[in-house]
Amino acid sequence: MKKLLLMMLALTLAACQENSPQRSTANLMELPAPELGESWTTKNEDQAENILNHTRDMVNERAATSGVMNRDAHPKAHGCVRATFTIDNKNLPAAQRVGVFGDDQKTFDAWVRYSNGDPDGAKKPDAEKDVRGMAVKLMNVAEAASGSQDFLMITAKEFFSKDGDDYLALFKGLTGGSVRLALYALTHPLSAKRLLGARVKIANPVTANYFSSVPYKLGNRSMRFKAEPCVAPTDKVPASPSARYLQEGLVKTLAAGSACYNFFVQPNLDPEHNPVEDPRVIWDEKKSPYIKVATLTIPQQGGITSVEQTNFCENLSMDPWHSHAQTRPLGQINRMRSLIYKEISRMRHDGNRTTVLEPVNHTPCVGPTAALCETPKK
Ligand code: HEM
Repeated sequence: MKKLLLMMLALTLAACQENSPQRSTANLMELPAPELGESWTTKNEDQAENILNHTRDMVNERAATSGVMNRDAHPKAHGCVRATFTIDNKNLPAAQRVGVFGDDQKTFDAWVRYSNGDPDGAKKPDAEKDVRGMAVKLMNVAEAASGSQDFLMITAKEFFSKDGDDYLALFKGLTGGSVRLALYALTHPLSAKRLLGARVKIANPVTANYFSSVPYKLGNRSMRFKAEPCVAPTDKVPASPSARYLQEGLVKTLAAGSACYNFFVQPNLDPEHNPVEDPRVIWDEKKSPYIKVATLTIPQQGGITSVEQTNFCENLSMDPWHSHAQTRPLGQINRMRSLIYKEISRMRHDGNRTTVLEPVNHTPCVGPTAALCETPKK
């Protein structure tokens, strides 16, 4: 009987913790008022705190075995490379020439980080199916509070979670054993389909297509964005790929020459069928066409796997909320990210005894940002 009571008490405490998660920061309170079809309640704030607490636990658990405190998602980097981003806004309607897209022909210096998404994938071979990432950081964007404009993209056009409820259900499915996962897939068929579709094999990080997956603001509309190689790729996944063939491909391609992407925005011209609060939905490209707004150029370069540049890549913080207000992230999933990215970045930098800093040029290892190139320590 005593054992049963103790068990009931433990279950009640666990449930209370689930319903009233510990508040960690006030930055959810600072989010802009919902607009363009967004919906955000105190329940979503609790969900964000819940996801953050689970994420912290997982980051701590993995660090206990690996030593270094890696990112929770996208821990395996193929490399960080120098780039430029030149605006070409002539085809954008005037009301959407906002943020970094406001100045035609302006060129920003940028960094690009390529990654595999699997939280447990730091040591997994590249040949396994995974969500692949390309995060672009434009530097010296005076109007963005962080000083940078970050575009985080993955190889999936649509995201796999609708909202906070859906993301938490997936999380419980993934961490609750095969029966719970099967139950999740049965009760969330569209999300499960998107998740399966998001995991892909790619031939080379610089020849894949990357998408924002979730919506952002573009002046008076919502939008999605994407980066597409300027020349249609012809390369294939190697027949016997090494565990790091994506890094090898990146290094080899950029040693031989430059790479280039056309960067497009997709202003949402059909908000009724393209809801901001369900990023699993496909936006019809005939009704809401993509418009080219920039060219991302990655010049020929070496040094990608040097110790300093590898440290820099680990110490970098990409965050969708590093943005001009007029191109800010939209929707519940993105609002949750505003809490989680900042906190997890701070936590891993504390854990690795490194410093959260934004790079301001292509030589970050000298001068005031030199700490960005220090080796993460136990
Ligand atoms: C609620 C949903 C999401 C959560 C909880 C989440 C969580 C995270 C976390 C904790 C990091 C590491 C941050 C750091 O330590 O600096 C990260 C990185 C990343 N996430 Fe997400 N994420 C979510 C949704 C998305 C979506 C919708 C995308 C679509 C583009 C995305 C793409 C990425 C990429 C590309 C990175 C790697 C950035 C880099 O290279 O540093 N995530 N995510």
